[in-house]
Amino acid sequence: MAVESWVPELPVVSFTPSGVYAPQWDTALLTRALRREAISSATTVLDLGTGSGALAIQAARLGARVTAVDISRRAVLTAQVNALLAGRRIRFHRGDLDAAVPGRTYDLIVSNPPYVPSPDARLPRRGPARAWDAGRDGRAFIDRICAAAPAALGPGGALLLVHSSLCGTQETLRRLAQAGLRPAVTDRASVPYGPVLRARQRWLAEAGLVHEDDSREELVVIRAHRA
Ligand SMILES: C[S@@+](CC[C@H](N)C(=O)[O-])C[C@H]1O[C@@H](n2cnc3c(N)ncnc32)[C@H](O)[C@@H]1O
Repeated sequence: MAVESWVPELPVVSFTPSGVYAPQWDTALLTRALRREAISSATTVLDLGTGSGALAIQAARLGARVTAVDISRRAVLTAQVNALLAGRRIRFHRGDLDAAVPGRTYDLIVSNPPYVPSPDARLPRRGPARAWDAGRDGRAFIDRICAAAPAALGPGGALLLVHSSLCGTQETLRRLAQAGLRPAVTDRASVPYGPVLRARQRWLAEAGLVHEDDSREELVVIRAHRA
């Protein structure tokens, strides 16, 4: 699949206070993938790590019955306000990924989780970095989502997950297949480094994850289907 060099149309939300992840290229790439799904008023969607609520609101606009989760109280409040301003009814939970909705299953799970490799192996417990830091290999949340998805999807359901190829596209495909899903990369886009990657470039290069003169990363959307 060709890697697009692509200028996104960023999803519009009314309100993103500081400390809440404003929609970025990854949000836009996942929104584009979400729009291709066959969604009806019977489709149940779970947005894990909803942030401003951009993906949840898009799913609701497509007609789905949407539940959205975030660990950050400020993010949940922001997403609630944005849903209200967009005139969409969405069920919000503050909590830790799928543990916030135990025992429930969904037709579609969308997630743009934290995935940036960090020199600090510990995950931040507060502050804006909680939206992107994901341990030394960037996989702290991706691996959990890969493991949890099969039980949180109904038969015929699908997971749509976006992340940087820096944290290992093949590893995500391998884990999802091992968990019993049928994964494939559906979208790739080459995007310029944002401020977090630029600030970490030297450490990322020393860790062998990028070259010192790189200025772009590849984002991927992986769709994993439950038979
Ligand atoms: C990269 S942002 C994505 C926000 C939004 N979905 C988007 O695409 O613009 C990741 C989000 O995951 C949330 N998050 C981090 N750890 C989490 C956890 N353990 N459970 C649920 N949400 C979490 C962060 O607060 C942040 O809002």
